[in-house]
Amino acid sequence: MSTTLFTHIGELVTNDPTADDLLGAIPDAALVVEGGRVAWVGRAVDAAAADEVVDLGGRAVLPGFVDSHSHLVFAGDRAPEFAARMAGEAYAAGGIRTTVAATRAASDEQLTSHVARLVAEMRRQGTTTVEIKSGYGLSTRDEARSLAVARQFTEETTFLGAHVVPAGPDGAPGDPAAYVDLVTGPMLEAAAPYARWIDVFCERGAFDEDQARTVLAAGAAHGLRGRLHANQLGPGPGVRLACELGLAAVDHCTYLDDADVDALRDAGTVATLLPGVEFSTKQPYPDARRLLDAGVRVAIASDCNPGSCFTSSLPFCIALAVREMGMTPAEAVHAATVGGARALDRDDVGALVVGSRADLLVLDAPSHVHLAYRPGVPLVAGVWVGGRPL
Ligand code: NIG
Ligand code: FE
Repeated sequence: MSTTLFTHIGELVTNDPTADDLLGAIPDAALVVEGGRVAWVGRAVDAAAADEVVDLGGRAVLPGFVDSHSHLVFAGDRAPEFAARMAGEAYAAGGIRTTVAATRAASDEQLTSHVARLVAEMRRQGTTTVEIKSGYGLSTRDEARSLAVARQFTEETTFLGAHVVPAGPDGAPGDPAAYVDLVTGPMLEAAAPYARWIDVFCERGAFDEDQARTVLAAGAAHGLRGRLHANQLGPGPGVRLACELGLAAVDHCTYLDDADVDALRDAGTVATLLPGVEFSTKQPYPDARRLLDAGVRVAIASDCNPGSCFTSSLPFCIALAVREMGMTPAEAVHAATVGGARALDRDDVGALVVGSRADLLVLDAPSHVHLAYRPGVPLVAGVWVGGRPL
């Protein structure tokens, strides 16, 4: 098998858990890839010869970002809603129904090309693993085809039929009990073959704790693992439910009390923070410092969606996390790489240690700190997925 040597790496972020520093950073480093995996890491002076050499001239290399939360399958545009919020209106999750109408009206080809565009946008910004949810179809046909589209781009697909209760055919409010029956019955049946995960928006105005339990249990019976949207718009039972059930991750975590924080720490459930949402909704940012100081595992993801946050950029989210949520640049990079991997229960991505998938990004900068230090600058100069350049 042929080998590729990446050398003269100014700073190599390995996320090696046995290292003394959080990022397992190696200065003046080199890395060897063989068969799509990392075969060796160390100091450049100690590297052996390889078939191909990529000289990085002092640039930093990081594991590719793992974006563990996105809603890329949709049609339509809600820019006017964003503009209204910036002029003082509050975020209303009811806008989801606007996107549902546009998504149902779109063809499979239109949905696919839109997802392709967004995934390409993410890749250019260093994301090498992405989770994609359904949740803008909200009918059996439209949830199943949303997931079939998502599956073309990632293994990490999530069935989010329980996003909101859609309106009835006459436009009247839908019946929540009947909708939960649909989600846990025919819709789940149609969606499960394309999904790895099942998610519920557990929030006042969406689904309550009992409904979330019902949906997650039905998903589990179909082999789908659970994750939750919770405590985004106010305090609620979702975070503690996720911990009680031992879910891999619970996402948003903006409104937490002390018992929520203790439960997260004790369960080891990853708290996924989505600072682009607070940027785009003008709500208060989650307190990442409090979570980290309590020993909670934290991830940062984009939540890329047309309503609450339409960014595909993890570098932007990292900069926000550092500036607005009390994270150090190292903590934010860790959360957007190995944090996202844990949130997806993956140990093959998010790190660059021997055996890791060779998913990596090159920064046109000497260290990871520049991601927050130079916000808004397109620093990602190269991306390799499974050892192959984009
Ligand atoms: O994760 N919280 C629920 N769902 C999305 C927003 C959906 C929308 O506004 O379209 C989120 O923020
Ligand atoms: Fe979301």
